[in-house]
Amino acid sequence: MCGIIGYIGKKNSLPIIIEGLKRLEYRGYDSAGVCVINGDKIIRQYKRAGKVNDMEKNINVDVFNGNIGIGHTRWATHGEPTDINAHPHFDMDNKIVIVHNGIIENYKVIKDKLAEDGYVFRTDTDTEILADLINYHYRRTKDFSLAVRLALIDVEGTYGIACLCADEPDKIIVARNGSPLLIGVGNEETYIASDAAAVINHTKNVVYLEDGEMAVITEKGFHLKTIEDKEIFRNVEVLDFFMGEIEKGGYEHFMLKEICEQADSIQNTYRGRINFETGIVKLGGLESVFDKMLNAKRFIITACGTAWHAALVGEYLIEQFCRIPVEVEYASEFRYRTPIIHKDDVVILISQSGETADTLAALREAKKHGATTIGIVNVIGSTIAREVEAGTYIHAGPEIGVASTKAFTSQVMSLSLITLMLAYEKSIMKQSTLVNVAKSLKLLPEKINKIVERKNEYKEIALKFKDARNFLYLGRGVNFPIALEGALKLKEISYIHAEGYPAAEMKHGPIALIDENMPVVFIAPKDKAYDKIISNIEEVRARKGKIITIANEDDTNINNYSDYVLRVPNETSLFAPILNVIPLQFLSYYIAVARNCDVDQPRNLAKSVTVE
Ligand code: G6P
Repeated sequence: MCGIIGYIGKKNSLPIIIEGLKRLEYRGYDSAGVCVINGDKIIRQYKRAGKVNDMEKNINVDVFNGNIGIGHTRWATHGEPTDINAHPHFDMDNKIVIVHNGIIENYKVIKDKLAEDGYVFRTDTDTEILADLINYHYRRTKDFSLAVRLALIDVEGTYGIACLCADEPDKIIVARNGSPLLIGVGNEETYIASDAAAVINHTKNVVYLEDGEMAVITEKGFHLKTIEDKEIFRNVEVLDFFMGEIEKGGYEHFMLKEICEQADSIQNTYRGRINFETGIVKLGGLESVFDKMLNAKRFIITACGTAWHAALVGEYLIEQFCRIPVEVEYASEFRYRTPIIHKDDVVILISQSGETADTLAALREAKKHGATTIGIVNVIGSTIAREVEAGTYIHAGPEIGVASTKAFTSQVMSLSLITLMLAYEKSIMKQSTLVNVAKSLKLLPEKINKIVERKNEYKEIALKFKDARNFLYLGRGVNFPIALEGALKLKEISYIHAEGYPAAEMKHGPIALIDENMPVVFIAPKDKAYDKIISNIEEVRARKGKIITIANEDDTNINNYSDYVLRVPNETSLFAPILNVIPLQFLSYYIAVARNCDVDQPRNLAKSVTVE
């Protein structure tokens, strides 16, 4: 979603801001802009709909030469993605300028009040209203920091903001409520950003703002306080990831890189958490709630998008192996349907970013009811990770492609580890079984690499379907969520309509869609559902649908039923879904590339959805 970057120091800020905006592109955006001050108390602004590259090509670098600046990538919420609605936004006097992530919920009320005071507005955005509200207080106080603070007291909603004032050109003011913001501390220079990826190549020393906090940023550092004016002291943290992790490293797209590196990301998820001799799993982050997990009457797993599909896999695993009832909820629905949550429920929140607004709201709802809350999160220090009672990081590393791939397999791995830990403690799984599972786990990265080595085979098949208008993905049991995830990947990046369904449920509707133009992907590994899946394939064949199967390497029988086969190594353990999804990721990737789609930044999508 929207991204913020800012710089104050001795260097020319424009190249730093443009580079930072490029590093934020992956979050999804539709317009971009920058404001710079260069000592003459005039704020220069350039903004436009479209890509950061277009902005870079057209901006007059001589005019935008100054050592304080802020930049923004916008994902439209209020107002179309036009030049005028792009950030930064000026106040009415062109003295104060602001970039904003989030939504000002009471902007209409504020707008009406300001209009009564003679304010006129240039854009359709809620952000311009905040700029004018700051102006309102600035006219009275002549104190920039105080004016921002007073304005924020009146504001309801979510925000991460950065603002400049022409009269006080030695500072940037930032604040946060529900939208991430961090300060990057350098040597005689300070950065601000909504995402560490934007500053990591300048400094690893960062301070995260918490909700309800603001900071005055100068080249010497920062002064942190609450919106209520209480001083705050916070230690600087050192970021623990490297530039290489957020660069393409020779791959054409981040998505391709992230698909191909899953042997590593999966290992990072389980490393140090399983004893390969005994098979016993220990997740340190869950120790404090372990008894509550064992005694829980019910688990509720809630998430959005791809993470919700991981949750569904978790439901199959935990119910089958731990015999604990599991409910899976869309986080966006959970809060609004007055859910029944008991104190002895365990609510698991899955989120790559740890910032998804709906998942965060679901977490707060669960806490309100006294349930135990557990996070399965990728981004370290993110809001969900900080607010849950306990949790386990998936350690997949930064995921830049908007379509989630390696985070999904690592989320499923985390859920598999939780399953093993509980199944053993509940004496449902014997230690001898665990030892065998551990053996399978040891072989898993090699099997993932075998899949990656087959990518050209998958590509060949993908090219045959680049002009398809619809796709159906079918699976049974734990492979039903894998079908959903395969369909989601295709929609997200190739804009082909795709639906995932439980294979047997096809007869109750989707079968009507099948003709010779309908490709149907069956997830058909040799498991206990295999014979049933073959029957479902027959039903589609009888109606001339095109059959693509995900099948095991040694399954020659499947050739009799398939037009095309995407092979995966045999896997009988609970890790099989992790293998089955990877060819589907490749399939959607190669179809999207063949259709000239912007794979890493698909239209309208955002990496992290921080609005409800
Ligand atoms: C967005 C992203 C998806 C992601 C979903 C949930 O829609 O485009 O890839 O699965 O949000 O995000 P989270 O960060 O909570 O996993």
